[in-house]
Amino acid sequence: MPELTVNSQRLNATLEALGRIGETPEGMQRIAFSPADVEGRHYVMELMRQAGLSVRIDHAGNIIARRGGREERAPAIAMGSHVDTVPNGGKYDGALGVLGAIEAVRALNDQGTVTRHPVEVLVFTNEEGTSFHRWLLGSRAMAGLWEPADFNAVDSEGVGIAERLKAIGGDLAQVGEARRRRGELHTYLELHIEQGPVLYQSGISIGVVSGITGRVVFQVGIKGAANHAGTTPMDARQDALLAASRLTLAVNTIVTQEETCRVGTVGTVVVKPNAVNVIPGEVELGIEFRDIDMGRVGDAERRLNEVAPEIAAATGTEIEVRRLELGQSCPIGNRIQGVVAEAARRLRLSSRTVPSGAGHDAQAMAAIAEAGMVFVPSVAGISHSPREYTSPEDCTNGASVLLNALLIMDEE
Ligand code: GLV
Ligand code: MN
Ligand code: MN
Repeated sequence: MPELTVNSQRLNATLEALGRIGETPEGMQRIAFSPADVEGRHYVMELMRQAGLSVRIDHAGNIIARRGGREERAPAIAMGSHVDTVPNGGKYDGALGVLGAIEAVRALNDQGTVTRHPVEVLVFTNEEGTSFHRWLLGSRAMAGLWEPADFNAVDSEGVGIAERLKAIGGDLAQVGEARRRRGELHTYLELHIEQGPVLYQSGISIGVVSGITGRVVFQVGIKGAANHAGTTPMDARQDALLAASRLTLAVNTIVTQEETCRVGTVGTVVVKPNAVNVIPGEVELGIEFRDIDMGRVGDAERRLNEVAPEIAAATGTEIEVRRLELGQSCPIGNRIQGVVAEAARRLRLSSRTVPSGAGHDAQAMAAIAEAGMVFVPSVAGISHSPREYTSPEDCTNGASVLLNALLIMDEE
C-alpha cells in the first residue's frame, strides 16, 4: 500500500491560526476555560465541521468529532490531544496533536478514502491542569479515572468545576456519562512535540514513544510568623520563606544526590504578606516529582515527608505536605510502537524510541484503549515556554506518520 502524506501548507496554516488565539508577547495564555481556550475550541470545532466530521461535546467538555467507517459498529480509531496551554506557553504543545489529527482526516477526504473503522478526533478538557490543579481532567473523565477531588475542585477565582464545565458545554451532574467502555475505541494515538532534547539532538525525525512518565504533585503550606524585618533579631525569627528555601534545596537534593526519581521541581511559590520589610509569615509551594518507575516516585515522596518536619523544627515553622495529584506512569505496548515505526518507515523518515518525560492524555486513555504516541522534535528541547518551536516540516512529518499509522491499524 503506498504511503499517503498530509497537506503541509494547510496543516501549518491552522497551527499559525490557532497560535494567534491567546497569543501575548509573553507566550500563549490559552488556559483551560479562559475566553481564549473557548475561542480555540470553537476554532477547532469549525475546522472539524468543515472536514465533514460530526461534532459533539461530552459532559466533561471533551470535544468528540467522528468520521464514519465502512463498518460503523467497529471500534473507532481515535486521535487527539488538547488545546489548552500552560501560562506563558508555546504554540505546539497539544495544538499539533489536535490539528495533525484534523489534517489526517482532511487527507483521507482528499483521497476519498473511507476507512473500515470509524475515526474520531478528540480534544480533551484541561490537559495541563493549570485550572483547578487537576491535570488530564477531560481524558481522565473519559477513562473513568475521576477522583473525589475532581468533583469538588474550585479554581483560583473561587469558581467551582460545575460552573466552568457548564460554560464549555459540559455537565458535572452527568460527568460519569463521559466515561467510555473498554472496547469502544480500537486505539488512541496522539501526535505531540517531544518537549525534550532527544530527537533534536540526534537529528531524528520521529519518536516512537515507549512509555509516559508518572507524576506526583504536592501543595506545601508553611506557617511561620510575620514580624518586623528591622527589629526582629535573626535568632528570634520564624521565617516561612527561609523554610521554603531549604525545602526547595531539599527537593533538588532528593533527586540529584539521593537519586530517588528522575526529576523534581518547585514550580510555584506564594509568599505572604510579600512585603520587603516584613518577615514572610506564610509560604505555599507547588512541588512535583516524575519518573516512569512509580516506585522511584514513591521514594521521592517518602523523602519529602521525612525532610519537611526536620526543616520545620530547624526553622521554628509548621510545614504541611498535602498530595494533590498522583498520575500513574504508562508503558506503551509493543504492537502500537511497531505500527508507529512502520508508518515512519513507509514515509522514509528516521525514527527511534523515546520515553516521554511530559504527561499526556494518552496515559489516561490507556486505561480504556490501547494508547500510543508519535513525537516530533522540539528545537533545543524547549517547551512550556514561548520559545517552544517545531519546524513546519517536522509538524508535517508527524501528521503524515499519524495518518499512515491510522491506515496500518485500519488494515490489520
Ligand atoms: C503536561 O504538559 C505536563 O506537565 O507534563
Ligand atoms: Mn501537551
Ligand atoms: Mn503541556
